[in-house]
Amino acid sequence: MNDLLARLRSAVGDDHVLTAPDDVAAHVVDWTGTHRGRALAVVRPGATAEVAEVVRACAETRTPLVPQGGNTGLVGGGVPDGSGTAVVLSLGRMRTVRDVDPVAGTITVDAGVVLADVQAAAAAADRLFPMSLGSEGSCTIGGNLATNAGGTAVLRYGMTRELVLGLEVVLPDGRVWDGLRGLRKDNTGYDLTQLFVGSEGTLGVITGAVLRLFPATPRHATAWVAVPSVATAVSLLGTAQEHSGVHLSTFEIANRQAVDLVLAHLPGAVDPLAAPSEWYVLLELAGSASDDGLDATLEALLGEAVEAGTASDAAVAGSPAQRSALWSLREGISEVQKVEGATLKHDVTLPIADLARWTDAMGPVLQEVLPGVRPVTYGHVGDGNLHYNLNAPVGRDDDLRAAAGDLTTAIHDAVAAAHGSISAEHGLGRSKAAAAAAYKSDVEVDLMRAVKRALDPHDLMNPGVLLTAP
Ligand code: FAD
Ligand code: MLT
Ligand code: ZN
Repeated sequence: MNDLLARLRSAVGDDHVLTAPDDVAAHVVDWTGTHRGRALAVVRPGATAEVAEVVRACAETRTPLVPQGGNTGLVGGGVPDGSGTAVVLSLGRMRTVRDVDPVAGTITVDAGVVLADVQAAAAAADRLFPMSLGSEGSCTIGGNLATNAGGTAVLRYGMTRELVLGLEVVLPDGRVWDGLRGLRKDNTGYDLTQLFVGSEGTLGVITGAVLRLFPATPRHATAWVAVPSVATAVSLLGTAQEHSGVHLSTFEIANRQAVDLVLAHLPGAVDPLAAPSEWYVLLELAGSASDDGLDATLEALLGEAVEAGTASDAAVAGSPAQRSALWSLREGISEVQKVEGATLKHDVTLPIADLARWTDAMGPVLQEVLPGVRPVTYGHVGDGNLHYNLNAPVGRDDDLRAAAGDLTTAIHDAVAAAHGSISAEHGLGRSKAAAAAAYKSDVEVDLMRAVKRALDPHDLMNPGVLLTAP
């Protein structure tokens, strides 16, 4: 072990191999606080060649390695297990924006660049990098790629895998694959870039990426809409699509329980509507500087929705400050749920046509498992993706913990029965690896294991994450 630490120090410099408990602490517990592990060391390389040397040293000594970006993942994939045998490889020092090409519509970045910094670099070139997550001030592009992150702009621009053109990856044996090509067209065999997207650090360490840029959208029309039910939210989605076409960029849902938590715990949060509603939709249209009809389109579609009964009321943002206040009602939910106490997260996708039936049926089932449990339901309804999270009955966190397995099984079984997915955008990590294997066919699991064994025959890259066994 001492030999390995010495080799790591010589690869990245003494200051960047952390072993003191205080230095390591933040790297071994996940954002939710449910996954707490131990690490042999946390290593912070500053360049791709250093990553390669770290990976080689770990491969030669058969030391497990956990790649880590901003450590904002929600499924425990970026932290080690409790054995204390793994090295955490943190990409946080690799923060260079290598190139921006506004005409080709590409930006080339180190994997450790924080998402908000990619957005800012794109904006500085009068372009848009559309991915947007509540964690964008801390999560990294490497983590976004490794989890195939979604967020609030998927409806218009797609998941992370639709935003990437090429990657640079350090393979489990320490070789570097330079696939940093910004080509829109490249049919020269298996798509290796896409193989690494969503692989959650189990196939290699992403060190660089070429991402797609889009025309800037400086104009916005934003509304917080009260809707009576999930069914009417889905009808409103149809109306919004008909009226606004390509301009519809966000269509998010939240139940009253979620909004109540934001109003109770987020400083400055205010309910923009006079009367409470069971459900809300955050709806946004975005356009270029010359798209000056967005406000009128929004007014027209809201008017039609109110007349049809698919919306009962709406607040329209009249200024950037009002826009950000409406957004905070949605984006604040994850944070305030933690403040409220024990939480059980579920990140599910359902066919959009089935969302209302599924949600209506789920409530009573959960009340039977744990009377008083509080569904805090929100998410990206335009993508069929609900964060079907649960808070404990008031003051009974231990009861939620005790019933967690039964509650999750009830939800996942119902998702499987509706041909949905038990992980829409957060990945599998340590939390859902076993469940995913149970719901997938043997053929699918065999194929995934074959890919894993081919690239990482000694199961050193993030063992226990995504697949429970190699
Ligand atoms: P980490 O948490 O550090 O790691 C996540 C996974 O990626 C781990 O398996 C890790 O091993 C692997 N990994 C990290 N970097 C690399 C690399 N360079 N090479 C190989 N593997 C790597 N997610 C969504 O999809 N949509 C949302 O709307 C959303 N909202 C969120 C809001 C909040 C408040 C929070 C806390 C999280 C949210 N997330 C969301 C989850 C999270 O932010 C994303 O999963 C994000 O992509 C993780 O990035 P990260 O850099 O923090 O990765
Ligand atoms: C979000 O969309 O806010 C996150 O993905 C959900 C979560 O925190 O569960
Ligand atoms: Zn989400």
